[in-house]
Amino acid sequence: MLSGKTVILGVTGSIAAYKAANLASMLKKQHADVQVIMTKNAANFIHPITFEQLTGNKCLIDTFDRNFQFQVEHVSLAKRADLAIVAPATANVIAKLAHGIADDMLTTTLLACTCPKLIAPAMNTRMYENPITQDNLAALCRYGFRVIEPTVGHLACGDTGAGKLPPESLLLECMLDEIALEKDMAGLRVLVTAGPTMEAIDPVRFISNHSTGKMGYALARTCRRRGAEVTLVSGRTQLEAPFGVTMVPVTSAQEMFESVSARAADQDIIIKAAAVADYRPAQIAENKLKKSDDDLSIRLERTTDILAWLGAHRRSGQVLCGFAMETEHLVEHAKEKLAKKHVDMIAANNVKVPGAGFGTDTNVVTLITQSGTRELALMSKDQVAGEILDELLAIRKRSQSDCGADVEEIIKYEML
Ligand code: CTP
Repeated sequence: MLSGKTVILGVTGSIAAYKAANLASMLKKQHADVQVIMTKNAANFIHPITFEQLTGNKCLIDTFDRNFQFQVEHVSLAKRADLAIVAPATANVIAKLAHGIADDMLTTTLLACTCPKLIAPAMNTRMYENPITQDNLAALCRYGFRVIEPTVGHLACGDTGAGKLPPESLLLECMLDEIALEKDMAGLRVLVTAGPTMEAIDPVRFISNHSTGKMGYALARTCRRRGAEVTLVSGRTQLEAPFGVTMVPVTSAQEMFESVSARAADQDIIIKAAAVADYRPAQIAENKLKKSDDDLSIRLERTTDILAWLGAHRRSGQVLCGFAMETEHLVEHAKEKLAKKHVDMIAANNVKVPGAGFGTDTNVVTLITQSGTRELALMSKDQVAGEILDELLAIRKRSQSDCGADVEEIIKYEML
């Protein structure tokens, strides 16, 4: 996701400095060019060689080191950086950055950076909560830095409170959020549904399906990384909530219907990736059903088809996308759904194809729209999400220019 991007990782003298090694490694795995700059104090906590091994780049500490590649290293690095993050950031470096003090390689480089800049404070709770540090952080926000709040927990000094460096995965997610994808969905509101629904039989049993939610979560994550305001209505899954997304947890198809229909009118795009139960037990037993020697039948009744409801109630200009999971006649069935439910696109997959379907990190999807059918190759669910969103944005653009043409027609007619 960060191929071709240069990331400056500033490391300062906090006990959490060792975690920056993992962050450097994670950035490298995303194919970023990682340039680590340490303060002299940071080098007391972790050796620069660790970062050099992990990044393949010289770890910079001293502004006056004469073995540098560039004439004015801090400026040349600042010019080519796509993003800079200081993690962990001590109270001292925060104070210096907030006041434009540039007395070492890290602070001089950051002062020269115009790219997005992130600060992840990590220190003792009292130091963090001190109004001086809080004022300095507020000043950094005013100057365009994004502050990643520390987490609350047991600190190395023995105290408990705010001041822990957030997990490296969250720091990486903040960076991806800033620079991984072009923000071509900025200003759009998107609602995604994901995961399975569970239909209660009695207080301990339910009917459900094998959906893990991975495809829907990938869609929500990608929408957010492309700048959209995202709501994720999710059945129960084992997945972590995607960063920066409003989560609406639901259990049954009825709850999903209520959550989606209540929010539908506000959305520009709705993507129904959830595996919604088509049937539910007609009666939910009040007490646990006890077994007997006889066979048991449970009468099932239809749930509301949420996608069809959205198709019937959509507001003008809204784009709707459904999913279809088939085992045969994929395209024919998907085309029927497209027409029957009045939606703009169906993303269909055949569960029997290797690499597609439930629980996998990959998918093999065919996109069916009014204007044709496009088969995608086997790819990661994040990549599939990207392809689906490209197609939906193209549909939205076409429908907007059609609306524009209609408005022009009306104006012409009224003038006549
Ligand atoms: N869907 C829905 N509400 C339901 C059932 C399904 O919104 N009660 C949505 C799913 O989220 C998905 C699409 O409809 O986007 C799937 O279409 P559907 O016709 O339900 O597919 P199948 O369940 O596979 O139906 P069939 O048995 O007819 O193939």
